[in-house]
Amino acid sequence: MSVKNLTRRDMIWASGILLTAVRQQTVSGQQPSHPEKDLIYWSQEPPNAEPELDKLIQSWITPTKHFYVRSHAKQNPVIGADEFRLQVEGLVDRPLSLSLSDLMKFPQRTLTATLTCAGNRRAEFNAEGQVGGVQWQAGAIGNATWTGAALADVLQQAGVQSGAQHVWFEGLDSIEHQGSNIGFGASIPIEKAMGGKDDVGALLVHAMNGAPLTSDHGYPLRSLVPGYIGARSVKWLGKVVVSDRTSSNHYLATAYKLVQETQDIDWAEAGPIYRYLVNAAVGSHPAGAELAVGEVQLSGYVLPSGFSNARVKQVWVSSDDGAHWTEAELTGENQAFCWQLWKVSVPVTRDTRSIIVRAQDSRGAFMPERVPWNAKGYLQNSWFRLPVKVS
Ligand code: MTE
Repeated sequence: MSVKNLTRRDMIWASGILLTAVRQQTVSGQQPSHPEKDLIYWSQEPPNAEPELDKLIQSWITPTKHFYVRSHAKQNPVIGADEFRLQVEGLVDRPLSLSLSDLMKFPQRTLTATLTCAGNRRAEFNAEGQVGGVQWQAGAIGNATWTGAALADVLQQAGVQSGAQHVWFEGLDSIEHQGSNIGFGASIPIEKAMGGKDDVGALLVHAMNGAPLTSDHGYPLRSLVPGYIGARSVKWLGKVVVSDRTSSNHYLATAYKLVQETQDIDWAEAGPIYRYLVNAAVGSHPAGAELAVGEVQLSGYVLPSGFSNARVKQVWVSSDDGAHWTEAELTGENQAFCWQLWKVSVPVTRDTRSIIVRAQDSRGAFMPERVPWNAKGYLQNSWFRLPVKVS
């Protein structure tokens, strides 16, 4: 492809790659702050990092070293297991103060669920107008196995009072925000907290992929809300509050919302984002990959929307700008709240300029061709376009 044929979107992708290379160079030669991780760091303080996509899609379960990290505090809080207590309060009959061993006495549930940041693929919004924040490519997502007590079991022991509408989570981190320090917080509707027939609801997890949570992922305890954007799964969890309203914490009340402006906004009017959307990406090849005329084998991930009855239905891939689509084969397990992997072989001709991926789930939700720009760069799930060069 000649330079004059590059679209603005292609340029953004290309600059993303360049930036990645620069970042890797910047951190190489320095002592890594998170030596157990194999990630591209967009910042070290706070740690914000995503894996290279070809590593991300190697297995259905994402190894912890390839699991993205999204934190807001410069430093992870250091919490000793012995002094740790989870406070459960608000509209409950019996407020609780639970140690880790108290939490282990509840029936332990292990489930696999995909966690994804609302800002995944944010960098692609810049084709239409600058968005701030971490310039995530498509790696702010991972699929892990999580173990802990069901929030519903803990709330049942506390005795939820009538009038309860939302459950708040409060983190023990300390984030500089508008001249003071706050913890990260969230809330979820009581119906999600308590779960249902096919949905355990939320978990209070102490283990990820069969090992205690690492510091980056919230040691010693985090909430895990399958189907919801990552921001509702609060790390370093210190408090659960049952309330008749949504949390007033900044990260629920004014961040993680779909808005066109960031000034003079009626924040309450823009509701919080809860569920994530159907999404997909190519992982096997980077933007700008050189392909030979003939056939190319591609692979990637696909996520159904965040409902307990949503499953991936179809992934289609085009190498001729949408004139023809080939259905991809799905691999990995087909479970609620989990991604699947996909692979496909498509023709490459002299005219191939990009690979386009779109997907649909069993509830009929689909990736739109374009997603309206929003000021904070959330929920980018438009057709995934990978610019390529044909040699
Ligand atoms: N919890 C706390 N206490 N502090 C945080 O900064 N970041 C949230 C969420 N929980 C955050 C948090 C966001 S935005 C995301 S996407 C997920 O954690 C990321 O989880 P991970 O770092 O384990 O991948």
